Amino acid sequence: MPREWLSGHLRRTTRVAAAALAALAALALLAAAPAAAGDAFRVLPYVQNPAPDAMTIAWLSARPDSGTVTWTAVDEPSAPVRQVRSAPELAADLAYPAWEAASFFSGHAPEPPYRHRVRLSRLRPSTRYAYSVAQGDEAFTDTFRTAPAPDERRPVRFIFMADSETEPESTGKPAAWADPTGGQTDRLYPIDQTEGFARNLAVVWSRQPDLVGFAGDLVESGGEQRDWDEFWWHVTGVAGRNLAGRIPLLAAPGNHEYYEGPRLDGYEQPGSERAIRRFLTYFEVRANGSPEPADDGRYHRVDYGPVTLLFLDVANNPPHQSTSDTNYYLRGQGDPGGGGAPGFGPGTRQYDWLEAQLADAQQRSAFTFVVFHHVPYSVGPHGWPPGPTATGLDPQSGVPVRALVPLFHQYGVDAVIAGHDEIWERSQVDGRESRRDGSTRPHSLHVFDVGVAGDGLRAPEPGLTNPYQAFLVHTQAPERWEDGVLVDGGKHYGHLEIDVLPADAGGWQAVLKPVYVFPLPAPRQPGGLPYERRIYDDIVTLTAAAPATAVADVPAALPPVFALQPPYPNPFNSTVLLRYELAVADTVRLEVFDAIGQRVRCLVDRHESPGSHSVEWDGNDAAGFPAASGVYVVRLCSGPAAASTQVTLAR
Ligand SMILES: [Fe+2]
Repeated sequence: MPREWLSGHLRRTTRVAAAALAALAALALLAAAPAAAGDAFRVLPYVQNPAPDAMTIAWLSARPDSGTVTWTAVDEPSAPVRQVRSAPELAADLAYPAWEAASFFSGHAPEPPYRHRVRLSRLRPSTRYAYSVAQGDEAFTDTFRTAPAPDERRPVRFIFMADSETEPESTGKPAAWADPTGGQTDRLYPIDQTEGFARNLAVVWSRQPDLVGFAGDLVESGGEQRDWDEFWWHVTGVAGRNLAGRIPLLAAPGNHEYYEGPRLDGYEQPGSERAIRRFLTYFEVRANGSPEPADDGRYHRVDYGPVTLLFLDVANNPPHQSTSDTNYYLRGQGDPGGGGAPGFGPGTRQYDWLEAQLADAQQRSAFTFVVFHHVPYSVGPHGWPPGPTATGLDPQSGVPVRALVPLFHQYGVDAVIAGHDEIWERSQVDGRESRRDGSTRPHSLHVFDVGVAGDGLRAPEPGLTNPYQAFLVHTQAPERWEDGVLVDGGKHYGHLEIDVLPADAGGWQAVLKPVYVFPLPAPRQPGGLPYERRIYDDIVTLTAAAPATAVADVPAALPPVFALQPPYPNPFNSTVLLRYELAVADTVRLEVFDAIGQRVRCLVDRHESPGSHSVEWDGNDAAGFPAASGVYVVRLCSGPAAASTQVTLAR
């Protein structure tokens, strides 16, 4: 793609200044060099720390030589071409442990790499830039897009996942896939974890989100360098594309990032501190301002358009091995011999920071999403209260993180995105948000376990219930088998896709879609992919007033109306999002008709509650085959009310 882009860009920029043209030609030459053909890059360039006016380009090299980053705005003929050399630092924390060197490299593991970070500044908001990184005799070229300006009204898309738990050993190791009907407990998933994660990332790439967030447990053992090599191989090499080279990856650490591995210290110090230093070496985030250096990089904030994202570290809470510890194994801040894992409960630095960020975000942002690892409500193995396994408790419980829920309600947090239990569960916890004028209003917090990136696909624990459970894939997406072939439903690898779209009267809508990557029994078309992106029947649609008035000046609840919102995007070529509002509970039908009035697809036909709803049309007809390019009519009927709109499919 970069090469194609550059040739197109060069064709379009005939009036470009001579110097800029020369630099672009140089970029084009660099782009012609095969990326990573040799061993100059240990990790290909990837983008980090997105802002409206800046982006960081990071990479790892085998040798200590400086590299060169060249960048320019796309589609702006007069944009300057800028260039800067990197100042590499030895990444000593990424050394292979001696046992890995002995076991896998005959004692001759590569030396630790050199880390390069170049902050591109003075960029323009919502602008696509081309960049090229030259390192040794190799080069890599791609593009990225800056974050929107704070008051800008453009759609943004985020994708969140967790628990990829990469390790070379997961290849050929399919996850257990318990039958929800209880018939077979020893089934294995049709593909292994490596393939599952790769297919999941291929779908992410096809959606081109603005950013991708990981809610922890990126790798199996945070202390094993080969597990990190595997992670970066996936995110910089999936389907021949460098996902992380174009789309910023952000992450909260999970317990596995503090796990040195079974061959070393496990969760014990100093091993857990050695493990997390690998995580911290890879990711660059906005500073959290903590006076404690150990807090650097472990919790952070990102403002992206109308959304504030807060990434937390909830691996540990002092004092160690108490009822307020998520991870009974881990020695963290405040423990004798403890490491740097910050606490998260009341009285800790992270809690105070979190409250200050939430108070600010409540005023400035349409939506606030909080990302961390240990899901607080779950029927999975970590849904038990904390304590030793021998007493029927859980040594890595998510339950203690409920200490943060009062804050989430008070400041109107919309969603918590977590992982750890690997079962895809959504909980809805109702409370009250405190408004600036001292009044309160009802508020719902949605809590997601999105831990199905590529490792486990667990089942609920017998005997455990979650009174807040709103959707559980295991039981609410029944597998549908025909002639011994799985044709739909079931628990699969996937992620949460969030589209944030401008809405009426300066407001915003966020549509949270539970995506799964379904392994087809056979490709639909010759040469087609044997996988399909699908959505579970649990789309959440949130509506927010304009941020400046979100708390003080808007009625507690807008009167329900009947409306069909403009389709997004329109025209479309893969999927189109259809949003609608219902004034009263009633039977709803949402159908797609072609130009001669024949029904192509019925997307909704059921009883629904008042409020905002969304559904995606994938451009397929009722039989699952792609509809032809053209104009289609979308018709919404609810009781006596009806509305229609047009959407154009352009293949
Ligand atoms: Fe975990």
